[in-house]
Amino acid sequence: MAEEKKLFKVTIDNITIEVEPGTSILNAARKIGGDVVPPAMCYYSKLKDSGGKCRTCLVRVAAGSTADPRPMPKLVASCRTNVMDGMIVENITSPAVQEARKGVVEFLLINHPLDCPICDQAGECHLQDLSYEHGAESTRYEFNRRTFKKHDLGPYIQLHMTRCILCYRCVFTADQVTNKRVHGVLDRGDHSEIATYIEKNLNNDFIGNVIDVCPVGALTDKTFRFKNRVWFTKPVDAHRNCDKCCGEVQLWMRGDEVFRVTARKDEYGEIKDSSKGSTGWICNECRFEKKNASDWVIEGLSNISRHSVISQGKYPGLVKPNETVVEVMNGHAPRLMMNIHSVSEVNKPEIELSKIAGPAHSSDFNSNNA
Ligand code: SF4
Ligand code: FES
Repeated sequence: MAEEKKLFKVTIDNITIEVEPGTSILNAARKIGGDVVPPAMCYYSKLKDSGGKCRTCLVRVAAGSTADPRPMPKLVASCRTNVMDGMIVENITSPAVQEARKGVVEFLLINHPLDCPICDQAGECHLQDLSYEHGAESTRYEFNRRTFKKHDLGPYIQLHMTRCILCYRCVFTADQVTNKRVHGVLDRGDHSEIATYIEKNLNNDFIGNVIDVCPVGALTDKTFRFKNRVWFTKPVDAHRNCDKCCGEVQLWMRGDEVFRVTARKDEYGEIKDSSKGSTGWICNECRFEKKNASDWVIEGLSNISRHSVISQGKYPGLVKPNETVVEVMNGHAPRLMMNIHSVSEVNKPEIELSKIAGPAHSSDFNSNNA
């Protein structure tokens, strides 16, 4: 008979579970789920060696193990600390952890521009959520923020280095998912930046996945830039036969227009496994070139479990109020309030915004171009 594996008992915020030896505190907390899960800005379970960079996942170990129940002298990064049998961990139950996390958020925001109103990641940015949940109301920082020379990463990916928090996820992705990495972190300390050293396009077939793993708006999709706010689009699950990747994606649609294609993500913002069991990384062709609804077999509305503005009002099981917008707004039709494009006299309604290459300019709507 196979020998039974010994499991470790760990208590996190007064909830006890059993996990396999070698499990990190963060992953043990994810097994419990809910509020006890520490936030993670650099750890990514699908990327080997990720974690240990951002310190947002700090927790207090109140007892190291049954054999040695002394507390750990400092807060530890839960993504890089493995559980021991009998370990007692405090996350939301520790005021010291909450205070430290507030400090970490302040550090992450020191050089981060407050450009959420014009950032394509707004609404699905992990730093935005983190600051909202753990940050302070105002900044104490009085000096100039860092600026960088602009690097062009090619036709698909836009780099805004000022927004980068140096989590290294995109570097690990290029290393582990593509067959050749051409970008990385250059320089040291305050000068560290994501770049290609000699200006180069990121054009590997799977490099678009760096957009999905980036927790902030440092790497965004050039084919979606400034086309729409993410919370106005409707995510649906879709698939196609693709000979390069799993072909299982999420389409971000408005009406019949496909504005953006991404991999499917779980409640931690990580790419889900595909139906074949491997991580659902998608190829550049599916992500950037298949922007017609007819390219895809649409499965239905995505079930977004992440707590975010992107889950506003468009998910299965939603209970809608009885009164319609028209009634509440004294007879004004909703499209007059929300969909300026379809009724605009300036921006021609027949021009599909998702089909314009790059950001839309006034020249796109000139009568000569129509
Ligand atoms: S560009 Fe994004 S994914 Fe890459 S290191 Fe910066 S924050 Fe992380
Ligand atoms: S998630 Fe643990 S240090 Fe970044």
